[in-house]
Amino acid sequence: MSGGRKPDTWWLPRGVVALRVRIFEKVNGDRAVTLPNAAYGPEVFERVYAHPAANGRSAGAGLSDLFWYWLSPGPEVHQEHLEPGPRYEDVAQATRRILAGGSADLAAAAGRAVAGVLDALPADRISLVRLRDLVMPAWAEFCYGLVFREPCPPHARKLIIAHAEDVISALKCTGLRHTRRRARLTAYVRERLAAGDVPHRLPASLSPEEQVLYLQGTFFNTAVVQLSEATAHLLLALARHPRVQRRLADDPGDDRYLTHVLDETMRLYPLFGIAHRITTDEIPLDDRTTLPVGSVVCFSYPDYHATGYERPDVFDPDRWASLSAGDAHHIPFGVAANRPCPAWRLSPLVLRAAVREVLRRFRLDSSVSHTRSIPHRAPCLLIPRGLEPGARLAPLRGFLRVRDGVEDVTRGVRQLVLGTVMVLHARRQRPAARYFERFPPGRCPVVHSTGDSA
Ligand code: HEM
Repeated sequence: MSGGRKPDTWWLPRGVVALRVRIFEKVNGDRAVTLPNAAYGPEVFERVYAHPAANGRSAGAGLSDLFWYWLSPGPEVHQEHLEPGPRYEDVAQATRRILAGGSADLAAAAGRAVAGVLDALPADRISLVRLRDLVMPAWAEFCYGLVFREPCPPHARKLIIAHAEDVISALKCTGLRHTRRRARLTAYVRERLAAGDVPHRLPASLSPEEQVLYLQGTFFNTAVVQLSEATAHLLLALARHPRVQRRLADDPGDDRYLTHVLDETMRLYPLFGIAHRITTDEIPLDDRTTLPVGSVVCFSYPDYHATGYERPDVFDPDRWASLSAGDAHHIPFGVAANRPCPAWRLSPLVLRAAVREVLRRFRLDSSVSHTRSIPHRAPCLLIPRGLEPGARLAPLRGFLRVRDGVEDVTRGVRQLVLGTVMVLHARRQRPAARYFERFPPGRCPVVHSTGDSA
């Protein structure tokens, strides 16, 4: 079950999430529609998402200013935000090249990186950790390895964590944006690229400075953040469902069951709450209604993932024994027809390796709430295998639950205040709108040097 005892303030974080969705819709004005909704169900969601005219990415949506603000520096060259066209294709190909690798090698690299952070934990007592903070250094190291193809030095790891942490805190409105912190990583990547240390062919349609921002945004922000969040969700789900955890720990080679656990976790806690597109042609919703050009369509993953399942709110990995992820309403990595995640193959592979490494050494236990946005960064107790916690466990679980309830309240208020500050700041700065005033879609900035480093 995903339920558990709810703290008295359970409504507050939910209120914050609901408000956030409403703010997103409001920021886009009247031209915004969220699918699926009461009138248009999952079939319309699928059809519109895969429609060739649902291909505008950033230009023309008020929401883009907010995302560009959060993801800076370099949102204009982030693959996720590039308009369709040759520049996008060039960047997407580079991402595929950097993410390529043998399954065994990728899994081994992920296992090593996670082992590294677990080595620092005591083997003779219980550790209280926040899972996202625990694993982020491992994914920083792993992603550094993808880009530079060498072990990650500690100072680079620090810079990457500071950057990724800053982006994710701002996105969740638990902290403000710190541009100087992010600029330190930009300076580091710039220096390494200039020295010829990046052994990949980078997008020729980007200037050298844009290539720096592309690497920083895609690999040291998106990749690190998404892998950290996904690992935190997976481990927290296991900590809250001891029977599922025991089954995995008893048979670590059971790849099929681990895949079911991963599918169920990503179904219930998809990393994307909403993905949006701007329509570049009319799209019919039904026989009578058509989405006009320039509509902002918000695709709600949690709503789509809740349709077509029995008891959709329940965490039940066994449901996948008789379901195929391809047939079910399940798109953790987006839809194949419309810019899916380039790491759809790599991510499950390395996440499985990470979970195995953790379960081999620790039993997980947590009494905190589990929501899609996990703003608490997944507090959890790690009990070394072989250690009998005895009477120590109950008070620790009690402490976690009480602290979680108290933090929910203070964090909820903080998110509202910081969120409002950033929405207003982004509206004043208008980073996306200003960019498209200079470079309307289809008219990319001209690049004079290929800047290839390999
Ligand atoms: C479990 C981990 C991950 C999940 C669940 C995930 C999920 C997603 C989803 C749902 C989308 C599509 C959103 C849309 O339709 O707009 C997406 C896009 C993207 N993801 Fe991931 N992602 C993960 C890890 C990664 C990693 C490791 C990278 C590393 C490079 C990455 C890079 C990207 C990029 C660049 C896009 C934009 C694709 C495009 O527009 O062409 N993601 N991701």
